[in-house]
Order: sequence, then C-alpha cells, then structure tokens
Amino acid sequence: MIKQNKEDILILAIESSCDETAAAVVRNGREVLSNVIASQIALHTQFGGVVPEIASRKHMEKINQVIVRALEDAGVSLLEITAVGVTYGPGLVGALLVGVAEAKAIAYAAKKPLIGVHHIEGHVAANFITKYPGQENDISLRSGKPELEPPFVCLIVSGGHTHLVVVKDYGEFEIIGRTRDDAAGEAFDKVARAIGLGYPGGPKIDQAARQGNPHAVEFPRARVAGAPYDFSFSGLKSAVLNYVNHAKMTGKEICVPDLAASFQNAVVEALVSRAVSAAQEYGYKTLAIAGGVASNSALRAAMAKACQEDGLDFYYPSPVFCTDNGAMIGAAAYYEYKKGTRHGWDLNAVPNLKLGER
Ligand code: KG4
Ligand code: ZN
Repeated sequence: MIKQNKEDILILAIESSCDETAAAVVRNGREVLSNVIASQIALHTQFGGVVPEIASRKHMEKINQVIVRALEDAGVSLLEITAVGVTYGPGLVGALLVGVAEAKAIAYAAKKPLIGVHHIEGHVAANFITKYPGQENDISLRSGKPELEPPFVCLIVSGGHTHLVVVKDYGEFEIIGRTRDDAAGEAFDKVARAIGLGYPGGPKIDQAARQGNPHAVEFPRARVAGAPYDFSFSGLKSAVLNYVNHAKMTGKEICVPDLAASFQNAVVEALVSRAVSAAQEYGYKTLAIAGGVASNSALRAAMAKACQEDGLDFYYPSPVFCTDNGAMIGAAAYYEYKKGTRHGWDLNAVPNLKLGER
C-alpha cells in the first residue's frame, strides 16, 4: 500500500473513447501512480483504420483487466479511491459506453462520486502531470519549470480535433481557432495511407520524415480568410495525393521520406505560426500542446524553438500522455472534482460532446 496523506485525492480514471482501453490512478491531479493502456492498434491495422464495432468488443474484453492492473500498480484498493473519473465524450459511442458503464458500476458499488470528463479536457490536462513512474528516464521532460497553471494558450491536435484555445481556468476554455475540415491527425493518417505507410499514420510519418528533406516539395500553406487562427488541411492533403497520382502516371518514383518530411513540415508550420501568434495577440506568456499529434517530434522541436525565440514558456506532455491514456482523464477529473462536478447514475456517452459543454 502506498503512503498517503488524509487529504490526498486519488482518482481512478477510465478512458475508452477510441482504440485504447486505458485506466490510471492519479494523486492530486499531478502525480500519476499508475497508467495502464491496452492498445488495439495491431488489431485495427489490418483494416487500415479503427473499426468501431471491433473497438467496442475489445474494450469489453480488456476493461476489467486494465482497471485491476491500474489499482495493483498504484498499490491502492478501490476503497482508498476518492472518486471515479471517466471519458463520456466525444468519441465512438459504442467504445465510450463501455467505459461509462464500467465507471458507473464501480462508483456505485464502491460508493464513490462519479465524474464524467470531456476527452479533450483530458488531453489538455496531460500538461498538468509532473510526476509519474519512469519519469527520471524521460528525456522529453521539462526540467526546473514551475507547474503549469491557467491561464495559457493550448494547441490541441488529435485524430479528431484541431483547436486553438485559451485555457482560462481549469476546465474553462475559450476557442479561438479550429480546423475547417480535416483534423491534423486525420491529415497525417490519410497522407500516410496515400504514400503507402499504412496505419497509424502519424507515428509512421514522424519516423519516415527523419530521413527526408522537409523542403523537397513545397506544398501549399492554406489560410482561412478572415479567421487568422483557423486551420485547413484538406488542400494540403489533396496536394500530396495529386503529387502521388501524378508521379504514378508519369512513371516517376516517389521518395517516401522526402514526401513525409515535406508534408509534416507544412503541417508543423501552420500549427506553430498560428499558436505563437495567438499567444502574442491574446497577451499570454505560456503555450502548451496536447493530443496525439503533440507527440510528433518535429512539432515539439519547432514549437520549442519558436517559443524560445518569442520569449514564451512552452509546456508539453511526455509522449505517452499525448496519445490517449487514462492519466490525463485522472488529471482533468481531479480539477473537476475540486470544482464540485459530480455526475449521476444516468451519465451517458455523448459521442459529439462539444468542448466547454457539460
Ligand atoms: O489523441 P489521440 O491519441 O486520439 C484522438 O483523440 O484522436 O490522437 C491520435 C492521432 C492519430 O491521428 C495519430 O496518427 C496521431 O494522433 N499521432 C501522431 C503521432 N502520434 C500519434 N501524429 C503525428 N506524429 C506522431 N508522432
Ligand atoms: Zn484523444
């Protein structure tokens, strides 16, 4: 059993919105005691993307084991937990339902409060995590910086979302920019498929791009008229597809690393330039990134450089907390708990839950 203070708030958090079945125990919002993730990636790879029906079945198969492991790894029993947090949207409805039903059952049986968490609020809260097992070996960790506290600007880039927000307080967001078409992660996944890298696209492009020239092909950088902080990636995606088709028709060989690096460079430039100018324009000194694409090595490097040049403090989660995980839901649930958020036994999955909605 771990040593605890009486005032410690321990959240058991559950995440099952897409293709990872995940659970974690988080102490006082910042310290991860355990973080267990059962990834379904290998299962969906053969279909080139997530198959919702298969995802739900796999979540049902794994969820109990994952939760038991999370409690064991943390060295706590269910009775020592303060509250149960769970992602209730947005995401795949069948996948979300598995986590929500499980969280309700556990919270009811153990007589603990239930806290529904917005998945994207969870991604942002990954930036609050400062202590976790193995942290001593994490070279990506920011050293010597004070803990991140609102307000700050956050770039949220995942498979389903691309948002630029001001985090005014814990769980309080003002959206200042969004994508008009594809999410950044979606663009990575579609382009990866088109250039033969397969699923999941983001990490594969990240890897291939390391051997490529980011200036080999100058792809277009779209701007949305009258909306300086909005994004558009569908034109870029089409430009890559056209390039590939043209090469096929003319019998020209394509250099995958160069294409990957050039595409990635265009995405990174669009993300960094808007995020940095939004922070300046809105008068914030701190910028954070969140979501699966925030684990991209080129984005992390470019953002760090731009922030240093512009005198902004840059925060980023460790890569394992960028892609879907339970710890980020535990961090968000802690701040919701402190604010008094409690959900009833009628909590339901909300597949298209909007940011800032309860
Ligand atoms: O946040 P996340 O795990 O799930 C959603 O909430 O959507 O994000 C998944 C997305 C996928 O599109 C994946 O290709 C992308 O994040 N991704 C990356 C990298 N790792 C994951 N994109 C670029 N570079 C990466 N290293
Ligand atoms: Zn996510």
